[in-house]
Amino acid sequence: MLLQGKKALIFGIANEKSIAWAIARAFHGQGAELAITYAGEALEKRVRPLAESLNSKAILPCNVTSDDDIKGVFSELGKVWDGVDIIIHSIAFANKDELKGTIINTSREGFANAMDISVYSFLGIMKEAMPMLQGRNAAALTLSYYGAVKVFPSYNVMGVAKAALEASVRYLAEAAGPEGVRVNAISAGPIRTLAASGVNGFTQILNHVEEKAPLRRNVTQEDVARAAVYLCSDMASGVSGEIHYVDGGYNVIGI
Ligand SMILES: NC(=O)c1ccc[n+]([C@@H]2O[C@H](COP(=O)([O-])OP(=O)(O)OC[C@H]3O[C@@H](n4cnc5c(N)ncnc54)[C@H](O)[C@@H]3O)[C@@H](O)[C@H]2O)c1
Repeated sequence: MLLQGKKALIFGIANEKSIAWAIARAFHGQGAELAITYAGEALEKRVRPLAESLNSKAILPCNVTSDDDIKGVFSELGKVWDGVDIIIHSIAFANKDELKGTIINTSREGFANAMDISVYSFLGIMKEAMPMLQGRNAAALTLSYYGAVKVFPSYNVMGVAKAALEASVRYLAEAAGPEGVRVNAISAGPIRTLAASGVNGFTQILNHVEEKAPLRRNVTQEDVARAAVYLCSDMASGVSGEIHYVDGGYNVIGI
């Protein structure tokens, strides 16, 4: 098993369609021990049974807009684990209003909110995680989308946030590398999830990718999870700062 004995902390499960949930199951299947967070009380009743079904060692609240919540995760985790080998950051948010029409209508508040939850949270989590990650060949992984690089209808401020997230991956890789911590992102193709349902015209994107991607299909949460296993295992011991596409090859197509 590729993750035997590894301790993985997972942010971003909302329900059974979440990419982070597929990652959690794949990690469990490869022998990892899990700790799982949920964004707030409203999600607890959905996430707790999922986490329990994988024998999660800790199930902790964490709204990433709160520094105290992020700190609380690591202080609680320190009571059950002496370190963390893997961090999964699978979190993004923008107000629905920002994900329709064009970017010209972006509000200052909507911009700040999207950047805070979708980008700063990764930095904030890594800051608190470093003492538990260092010196154990650890790996951190976040989730991005091709809208970071190319323009997609309605993706708007989230495209800007993903571009900042991908730059953060490179800076974090450089900063954490001396402690033996690798930092990467998976740029996933479109998948029908709660977060995706906020993007106006998402079905149109799904249909287009299915028709044009080299594999002639959309990817699944499980496709992403298998790549996450590789990137967070010692199989990827020399890989850091990468944006790894799991999109059926869509990003290589010109027309
Ligand atoms: N679904 C897709 O098409 C797709 C494609 C590429 C990348 N991604 C990325 O994958 C990641 C996971 O999204 P998903 O598609 O699995 O959808 P999802 O809705 O299941 O996951 C998004 C998660 O973000 C969490 N979140 C939002 N605000 C939060 C906050 N303030 N504090 C803590 N958590 C918060 C939600 O609780 C949820 O668990 C996101 O970064 C998303 O941008 C998704």
